[in-house]
Amino acid sequence: MQFFVDTADLDDIAELNALGLVDGVTTNPSLIKKAGRDFKDVIAEICAVVSGPVSAEVIAVDVDGMLQQGRTLAAIAPNVVVKLPLTLAGLQACKTLSGEGILTNVTLCFSANQALLAAKAGATYISPFIGRLDDIHIDGLELIREIRTIYDNYMFETMILAASIRGPLHVKECALIGADVITAPPAVISGLASHVLTSNGLSTFMADAKSAGITI
Ligand code: E4P
Repeated sequence: MQFFVDTADLDDIAELNALGLVDGVTTNPSLIKKAGRDFKDVIAEICAVVSGPVSAEVIAVDVDGMLQQGRTLAAIAPNVVVKLPLTLAGLQACKTLSGEGILTNVTLCFSANQALLAAKAGATYISPFIGRLDDIHIDGLELIREIRTIYDNYMFETMILAASIRGPLHVKECALIGADVITAPPAVISGLASHVLTSNGLSTFMADAKSAGITI
């Protein structure tokens, strides 16, 4: 399973990248707003640091606008993935851009039928939002299971990019279900290394090494 980091913060991306934990990056307009920097500059800088796929989202809602913006974003770097909303217009833009060889990520997916349409439109990635479904008391992980089954039934090549990940259980369950990719905030990814028994055990080992006068 690939790990994408869901942020537009260059420092966070560089830190995780140094650990070998960044297979790609996803951004959205809200994350770009949080970064407080020029959109295209940020995407270009991320692409200079990360060789994997970097999702950049269009801000038009009509087909022509999405096509124009999608082509502009794709021209920034070869690893840019154009992120399009799961609307009929977004699906049409996805079909056209995918046909031009541009990588696409259909976002804001909240149902298996939406994911089916994205696959039929030739999307490179589908982004089902787990956490936002959990927020309204719908099991987000069940959606990942349904999409996995449907895509496997018909051998769709669209990759499941599980998004809106809120914690380690989402990551583990996505890995068990067989999501192709998860995208999560930097703190969720780095937090996967933490375990109370690891830190307690390490403290004991360090104390024993010191009191035994062990040197290497
Ligand atoms: C995915 O591409 C989105 O950027 C993201 O995962 C949304 O997560 P949120 O629901 O925590 O904002």
